[in-house]
Amino acid sequence: MIHFIGAGPGAADLITVRGRDLIARCPVCLHAGSLVAPEILSWCPSDARIVDTAPLSLDAIIAVMAEAHAAGQEVARLHSGDLSIWSAVAEQTRRLDRLGIPYDLTPGVPSFAAAAAVLGRELTVPELAQSVVLTRTSGRASAMPETERLAAFAATRATLAIHLSIHVIDAVAAELIPHYGPDCPAAVVFRATWPDERVLRGTLATLSAQVAAAGLERTALILVGPALGATEFRESALYAVDYDRRFRPGGAVAAPVGPPSR
Ligand SMILES: C[S@@+](CC[C@H](N)C(=O)[O-])C[C@H]1O[C@@H](n2cnc3c(N)ncnc32)[C@H](O)[C@@H]1O
Repeated sequence: MIHFIGAGPGAADLITVRGRDLIARCPVCLHAGSLVAPEILSWCPSDARIVDTAPLSLDAIIAVMAEAHAAGQEVARLHSGDLSIWSAVAEQTRRLDRLGIPYDLTPGVPSFAAAAAVLGRELTVPELAQSVVLTRTSGRASAMPETERLAAFAATRATLAIHLSIHVIDAVAAELIPHYGPDCPAAVVFRATWPDERVLRGTLATLSAQVAAAGLERTALILVGPALGATEFRESALYAVDYDRRFRPGGAVAAPVGPPSR
C-alpha cells in the first residue's frame, strides 16, 4: 500500500494526526525534498529507507514504490501542502493503477489556508467575496489552459490565491489592476509557517516594488481581493439572533445567560 500524505505548508505540527501515524509506521518514506520539514522525517522508523524524490524522474519514483510493494512494505509518500493541488499525485496514481498497486490519500493543510491564517484573514467576506480562486500562471512544467486566464478570474472580483507566480508579480499586478483597481488590498506570504516566513501587505499598485525590495523569489503565495482589507461588511446571518436555523429553532441566544454547561 502506498500512502500519499499532504505534509502541510511547512511547520511540522500542521500535519494531520493520521499523516503522522502513517509516517511512523511505514518502513519506506518518499518526500518532496526541502519542501518537507526535517522534523517530519524524524518520525520515520529509525531503520526506514528515506528517499528525497526531488532529483528523481517519475519512472524512478514509481520503481521505488513498486520495489517496496513487492517486498510487502508500506510506503509513506509525502507532498507539501495538500494533495489536491499541484502535487503531481495524479500522474503517480495513474501509474499505480496500471501496475495494480493499491494506494490511499491523506489530505494536508494547503498553503493558501496557511497564508490566510498568517494574514489573520478570512478569504470570503459577506457580500464582498464568496469565492476563492486557487490558480497559477504558466510555468515550465505546465502551461495554463487557454480559458484559465487571470483576467477571466479577476473579472469576478473573487479572492485570488495565486501560486507559483512570485517571479512574475509585475505581470500579475498589471493584469489584475484593470479589474480590481490599483488600491485593491494584496499580500504576499513567503514560506508561510516556516521559520523564515515573510509577509508583505500592500495594494496591487505597491506589491511588485515591495517584493523586489524584499528580494523574495520562491515559495510564496500572492493573495488579492477586497476581502483582504474588508472592515465595513455586513455580518453573516449564521449567528444572527433572529436567524432561524434548522437545528436552532427560535434563533441564537442573544448573550450568555449563566455559567458554561459541562
Ligand atoms: C507545487 S505548488 C504546491 C502546492 C501545495 N500542494 C499546496 O497545497 O499548497 C508550490 C507552490 O505553492 C505555494 N506554497 C507552497 N508552500 C507554501 C508556503 N509555505 N508559503 C507560501 N506559499 C507556499 C507557492 O506558491 C509555491 O510556489
